[in-house]
Amino acid sequence: MTTPSQTPSSRTPPSQTPPTPATSARPPVLSLRNVSKSFGAVRALRDINLDVFKHEVLAIVGDNGAGKSTLVEILAGALTPDSGAVSVDGASVSLASPAAARSLGVATVFQDLALCDNLDVVENLFLGNEMFLHGLLDEVSMERRAWELLGQLSVRVPSVRIPVASLSAGQRQAVAVARSLLGEPRIVILDEPTAALGVAQTAEVLNLIERLRERGHGVVLVSHNLADVQAVANRIAVLRLGRVSKVFAAEDLDYEALFAAITGASTQARNTTPDGEGSKA
Ligand SMILES: Nc1ncnc2c1ncn2[C@@H]1O[C@H](COP(=O)(O)OP(=O)(O)O)[C@@H](O)[C@H]1O
Ligand SMILES: [Mg+2]
Repeated sequence: MTTPSQTPSSRTPPSQTPPTPATSARPPVLSLRNVSKSFGAVRALRDINLDVFKHEVLAIVGDNGAGKSTLVEILAGALTPDSGAVSVDGASVSLASPAAARSLGVATVFQDLALCDNLDVVENLFLGNEMFLHGLLDEVSMERRAWELLGQLSVRVPSVRIPVASLSAGQRQAVAVARSLLGEPRIVILDEPTAALGVAQTAEVLNLIERLRERGHGVVLVSHNLADVQAVANRIAVLRLGRVSKVFAAEDLDYEALFAAITGASTQARNTTPDGEGSKA
């Protein structure tokens, strides 16, 4: 481990993303500077500048092809950017692999959740990270930790010893999030966590996201559901054609302007459209 002790001031100061007043005094927990990624001729991400703060939910929204998945994959250590810098807690880092990202405190919960349906909650939580006592699986400690984590997230499951296949989609999402917390991450990235969920389960997951913020994590919520985003995000970054086209503060969100930033339509044009095609995304 390298210690970033010498020159913390040598970092690029936050420039493009104006932090919300509540967070401006603190340094970002995660920061991207001029991050770019191309696939052949396709420029999936161009000069991305973003900051994420502790106790904050930063939503990333954007149309299909905007670059959301590419950004998530870079943060998860699954893709390497062509250029640019990523720092965690002010220290420049290389998210060179998923294991490296996790060990640097960046946890990603992918949309497919990667749970093993036939295994129970405890087994899923600790798969590959089992706790041992005297050379044997320490089931008692793992169960206790499982209840503790689910409790902190205000998640109710009938038992931690039932296969995750028998849980609701919202509970499964919670198990995947709880698993990501085992490594005590600084940042939790959620990729479309409500995409497959009904109304009640979506509410559960939004509640879960609020618990993550309360715990002090910096949360990155990738979603195309603007209602969800509006419900929990502190700031909303819009990706469009691989660039951050705008960052909105949630408190005074102008829905028309958000829609316009996503689609590239001008707000004026929309306002003058006689029968405007509805502002639902
Ligand atoms: N592995 C890949 N190879 C080639 N092009 C890709 C690859 N992944 C993404 N792209 C392209 O990069 C752009 C951004 O894609 P993506 O990050 O998936 O956007 P989003 O998740 O916002 O829909 C798109 O034009 C997409 O076609
Ligand atoms: Mg995608």
